[in-house]
Amino acid sequence: MRCWQSKKPQPPKEALALHLHWYTSQNFVREITLERNTPNSEHTVREVALAMPMAVPVFAHVGIEFSCGGDEKVSDACRQVGLTPEALWALIEEAANQPVPNDLEFWHNASPVALMDHIVHRYHEPLRKELSRLESLAAKVSMRHGEAHPQVHKLQRTIAMLGRDMELHMVKEERVLFPLIKRLDAALGRGMTDQATAHQLLPPLRLMLADHDGIMGLIRALRDQSDGYSVPAGVSASYHLLCSGLRGLQHDLQLHLHLENNVLFGAARDMLVASGL
Ligand SMILES: [Fe+2]
Ligand SMILES: [Fe+2]
Repeated sequence: MRCWQSKKPQPPKEALALHLHWYTSQNFVREITLERNTPNSEHTVREVALAMPMAVPVFAHVGIEFSCGGDEKVSDACRQVGLTPEALWALIEEAANQPVPNDLEFWHNASPVALMDHIVHRYHEPLRKELSRLESLAAKVSMRHGEAHPQVHKLQRTIAMLGRDMELHMVKEERVLFPLIKRLDAALGRGMTDQATAHQLLPPLRLMLADHDGIMGLIRALRDQSDGYSVPAGVSASYHLLCSGLRGLQHDLQLHLHLENNVLFGAARDMLVASGL
């Protein structure tokens, strides 16, 4: 992490105040200062997810969206999923005793370059293999069970669409967005500003945010079309594998997009500000 970034140096944990920046889905910049030990229901879902990584699996479990569109207040998000804020905080407190999934706490504080390398190796590469596996499984399930369970035809089409969209999206990140962020990071690390790169970075950053909304829309469609990944009685092992694979896909994509939208893009915004934009 570079000296110009706002999260360093870190004071002792009890007194820690996080200075967070990010682009919202409307592409404007918001800045907050959040005491780590005082998140409450008036903070947004994103603020709480960043300040308390242990809240992330709880949000996922109760159906609160945190990876895209986490601009809502926790109190409003609770209302939408039919939960009281008190019940949510009790679950988060309980989760504090469990390990945080996918080393989120570490990656929330990693350098942008390390985070991008991690995203490519931990999320992009396995996702390509997983989407190809799910496409083959869906074709098999469709052939075998399509007549009795026509929803599998829809699932097959949505998985194919997600596979195409995701591949295009990841190529744009790997070939355009991430190299631009790395170039800007390197310039700032040398104590220089690179306004040309900063100007080049803004359009793909906005485009990736819009892509993420589309990707989450397809994930929601998969969840609805499979009735919450439920398996009908009397179907083959392939149907079971397809539904458990889709559930895992949702989990991994939520964490993947959370690390990009809420962590990496916030750091990229810091770089734009440090570059004079
Ligand atoms: Fe990505
Ligand atoms: Fe992405």
